[in-house]
Amino acid sequence: MSDDAAKPAQPSKRRRSISYHTASVRNAIVTKFPDALLGGRLRARHIVQPIEIAERTLASANWPKAFDGLRIAHLSDIHFGHLLGPERLMQAVDAVRAVRPDLIAITGDLVDLSADESPLLFEHLSLLKASLGVFVVLGNHDHLDHPRSIVRGARDAGLIPLTDESVRAGGRNGLLVAGIDWSKSIPGCIERLRRCGMARSDLLLAHNPKAFVGAVDREIPLTLSGHTHGGQVARRANRRHNLVFTQRLSAGHYQQGDCHLYVTNGVGAWFPLRVNCPPEIAVIEMRAR
Ligand SMILES: [Fe+2]
Repeated sequence: MSDDAAKPAQPSKRRRSISYHTASVRNAIVTKFPDALLGGRLRARHIVQPIEIAERTLASANWPKAFDGLRIAHLSDIHFGHLLGPERLMQAVDAVRAVRPDLIAITGDLVDLSADESPLLFEHLSLLKASLGVFVVLGNHDHLDHPRSIVRGARDAGLIPLTDESVRAGGRNGLLVAGIDWSKSIPGCIERLRRCGMARSDLLLAHNPKAFVGAVDREIPLTLSGHTHGGQVARRANRRHNLVFTQRLSAGHYQQGDCHLYVTNGVGAWFPLRVNCPPEIAVIEMRAR
């Protein structure tokens, strides 16, 4: 497959953080160098894997009856950059469009490293349309370089970036959608949730699945997250036995009372290996009980 990697725009003159440089070195060691040694085969094999459409129907007594049957396409961890370029992104965009969702949620790690590539990313993401809107929250990789330009790019592309805020999707009595920015810890996620202002939302978007702890406290019926990539290497018999050891909530659907969490495998990755953990777009139909 000839998926051309995202071409870096003009090199940025801004001073970058230590985190950015650390991630660049890690990227060179675990991805670019081995991929170059193997003549590009690592990357080619990585992006040739079909993107799985994971369909779920979930029911909650907390879900508003006016939105019974709402279909949400959940796309995450694109990691636009060296491993995932425009062609592969277009496959993901086409897959989302094909399911005709009512709402689209993009839960972070839109870029892998550099925000310089985000104009090309948003050129593609601007093709996503849904009657209730296309919502975006940032992940840890979006913070490596220049998060503000990613938020701006999302807004300019007609998407709705949420940074610790809630909005009504679909008018005054619409679905209350909250979105929090990246935070590493449970207390950090809870603090960001508090900043969203509303006592209770209908839908929470958070890159880190740890936000589910705060969502349960607030009886939010559905939380959508990414970040873990489903562990990338998992046992076939149980995909929750995977390479993620720092997260209890690492892959798939979790439920506590009337609160649901879906942690998607995501579309991209920062290293080119997936075993029993295909790239995925989740399509969730929410029912009011
Ligand atoms: Fe990620």
